[in-house]
Amino acid sequence: MQTREMSAAAVEEKRVFSGIQPSGELHLGNYLGAIKGWVERQREKVNFFCIVDLHAITVPQDPESLRRRTRSVAAMLLAAGLDPDRCTLFIQSHVSAHAEGCWLLNCVTPIGWLERMTQFKDKSAGQERVSTGLLGYPVLMAADIILYDADEVPVGVDQKQHVELARDIAARFNRLYGETFVVPEPVIPEVGARVMGLNDPAVKMSKTHSDVRGHAVGMLDDPKEIERSFKRAVTDSGNEIAFSNDPGKAGVNNLLGIYKVVTGRSKDEVERDFENARGYGDLKSRVAEVVIEELRPVRERYRRLIGDVAELDALMAVGAERAEDVSGPKLREVKDRIGLALPRMAGGG
Ligand code: TYM
Repeated sequence: MQTREMSAAAVEEKRVFSGIQPSGELHLGNYLGAIKGWVERQREKVNFFCIVDLHAITVPQDPESLRRRTRSVAAMLLAAGLDPDRCTLFIQSHVSAHAEGCWLLNCVTPIGWLERMTQFKDKSAGQERVSTGLLGYPVLMAADIILYDADEVPVGVDQKQHVELARDIAARFNRLYGETFVVPEPVIPEVGARVMGLNDPAVKMSKTHSDVRGHAVGMLDDPKEIERSFKRAVTDSGNEIAFSNDPGKAGVNNLLGIYKVVTGRSKDEVERDFENARGYGDLKSRVAEVVIEELRPVRERYRRLIGDVAELDALMAVGAERAEDVSGPKLREVKDRIGLALPRMAGGG
């Protein structure tokens, strides 16, 4: 159960919001940078996790495959260990407060703030047509977060700038209309916040590149594919297996980072594990091995869950209801602050 009223203990607890797009196959970067941390966090915080389908349509999507992927991400998150009794898991478009809140926040967000966003610059570069939605993407993300008065937003490094913008938008609204929103903090994992492409350790592992051979490890890849991807991973011409900030050693650093997050060991312990390794070949197969074992139960649970569409849809409906219970009243408060005429509540005066 997930509202602050639920228990006295929960009142003391931090509220967490995070989201993931259903816009391609989820990969090891999503898992290590976000999902694994969400699963660990749900024991001690009040959590809202959202499948952000409205964000996905800021770039063209095939309707049927968007619907299929949205359900698939729901199954994947449950398979990875999100527990609907401990967190609120829901689909963004099921809760209309997000789109509505986005409009209200659009009206207090200067365009210049949005044009500066790195992701907007990257995604719009070279495109003939760019949707208004792509520019406004971080405002929708701000609505997601601040409508829940989230204190913490666990994300990978690539989303930090967007969470900082959500802070700016919340603070600006509070200045203009009085204290309304909690100003959220990004929470970035120390390692795993930026899992790099196996074929090119200079770029982050991403869904956009995941059709490139050897770039990403999909969360549903079978052991053979995972092994093959790691075998092909780009390293360097040396033989030293140690964490390093040297760009020339980024491939080895990435492999060690993956191993570290999966095993939960310290940097020293990881380096010690590889003291007697027989070169990079050995490193690659041992990293592949821990990743295979980490993802095996997720893949097996996923197969069971994705077969029961009715159950998945029912769980998402319950999540949406709980999310609505929190964001609905907040949205009404925001409208009231702005001076919008509030409709009469059913049964009200
Ligand atoms: P998305 O769907 O691109 O990614 C979901 C999460 O995975 C993290 N991530 C990575 N972490 C480490 N290494 C990588 N290579 C890697 N690739 C992705 C992302 O940082 C993210 O945490 N805009 C967001 C979704 C969103 C959201 C929100 C997040 C919408 N509303 C509100 C937090 C709060 C996105 O596109 O994430």
